[in-house]
Amino acid sequence: MASSTPYTVRWGIMATGWIAEVFTKDLLANPALRNVQDVRHEVAAVASSSAKDRAADFINKVKAPSSAKAYGSYHELVADPDVDIVYVATPHSHHFQNAMLALEAGKNVLCEKALTVNASQARKLVETAKDKGVFFMEAVWTRYFPLSIQVRDLISSGAIGDVYRTIADLSLAKQGADGKIDYPDANRMVNPELAGGALLDLGIYALTWVFQTLYHVQPEAQKEAPKVTAAVNKYHTGADETTSIILQFPNHKSHGIALTSLRVGSDVDGTKSSGAAIRIQGSEGEIQVMGPAYCPLQYRVIKKDSNGDIKIVDCPIPKDPESGWGQGMFWEADECARCLRDGQKESKSLPWTESIVIMEVMEETLRQGGVVYPDVITTDVYDAQSPLNTGKR
Ligand SMILES: NC(=O)c1ccc[n+]([C@@H]2O[C@H](COP(=O)([O-])OP(=O)(O)OC[C@H]3O[C@@H](n4cnc5c(N)ncnc54)[C@H](OP(=O)(O)O)[C@@H]3O)[C@@H](O)[C@H]2O)c1
Repeated sequence: MASSTPYTVRWGIMATGWIAEVFTKDLLANPALRNVQDVRHEVAAVASSSAKDRAADFINKVKAPSSAKAYGSYHELVADPDVDIVYVATPHSHHFQNAMLALEAGKNVLCEKALTVNASQARKLVETAKDKGVFFMEAVWTRYFPLSIQVRDLISSGAIGDVYRTIADLSLAKQGADGKIDYPDANRMVNPELAGGALLDLGIYALTWVFQTLYHVQPEAQKEAPKVTAAVNKYHTGADETTSIILQFPNHKSHGIALTSLRVGSDVDGTKSSGAAIRIQGSEGEIQVMGPAYCPLQYRVIKKDSNGDIKIVDCPIPKDPESGWGQGMFWEADECARCLRDGQKESKSLPWTESIVIMEVMEETLRQGGVVYPDVITTDVYDAQSPLNTGKR
């Protein structure tokens, strides 16, 4: 019989940037608001590689309980026995070294997307998680939205027949008046030293939809890695600014088209008037997902015989009525908690093999586009004293 006491997970937050704040506030949101009774979350500790004060300020800012510890180094965080799972929220350039630091310390890990900079780093992380017997997951929050689960279920139930093509776009225009992209060159979005570029930051969501609809839903034995044909425009920093990928799944006779750009936007005027960001096309109909691809709130089902009678389904994110807070990142946190409770080392919604195949696609895309990142961030040799772990910038 299920216990009535919720299973509690104690989180350690690694880094104090933008997404760390969004995620931690979601962790602290009341689970009852999303009808979750079986798990709950605590913030046990926060670490900043820059300064302990920064971690302490973060704890105040997100209104975490005063029991949360502030650390001035990632090493201290992973050594804390009160931390059950580490959330890695550093730039993707740092994910391999930072996630290894936590895994080597025997911690469970939720690591932000893109999981790594290349596939061999992703494989090493998975091998280490296996060796250490800990839980490990890439934080692609969209996968845990009720909307994503419903769309996957619809496809699996044959609601639109056999799916032959998915077109998915996540582009956010950052075109400045001078023709430059409106980020400073040092910003992680365009800085190769921080694995900058549209693909690893935004394109991963377009790929998420291609993989959710053309790969994940296939029976295990029939899953096939796609052939990749890519076109990449590079920014003057060397990072990719517009990237388009055709993924061919030969056995299933299907194509995925994943698009991303920092020059044009999926949502032209910010009013969501630009139509579906994702079109999933099957033999019996089509599912359209209204963007943005990372945080969709509505989908439409158009059957071949719909005759204009389209099914429109809204999937809002429950907000705290007092604070107005709630971004939808809590669903992936709940998934981690349930996996820890049930002794699962990987999530069924985003298994290790799938994260690795997606990293292979991104690596091949960047290879075809001639995008090269520095050795310090592409190495798959773990170094606890790497500047990426010690914060020496
Ligand atoms: N799931 C999502 O929706 C989502 C959204 C945005 C971003 N992300 C992912 O989350 C990761 C972080 O993105 P973000 O927007 O939060 O970045 P950010 O605001 O720049 O924060 C990154 C944090 O990483 C730490 N860091 C360590 N070394 C760094 C270095 N050399 N340069 C910059 N920061 C360094 C810093 O924290 P300390 O100084 O405290 O150590 C910094 O505050 C990225 O991989 C990104 O793809 C995910």
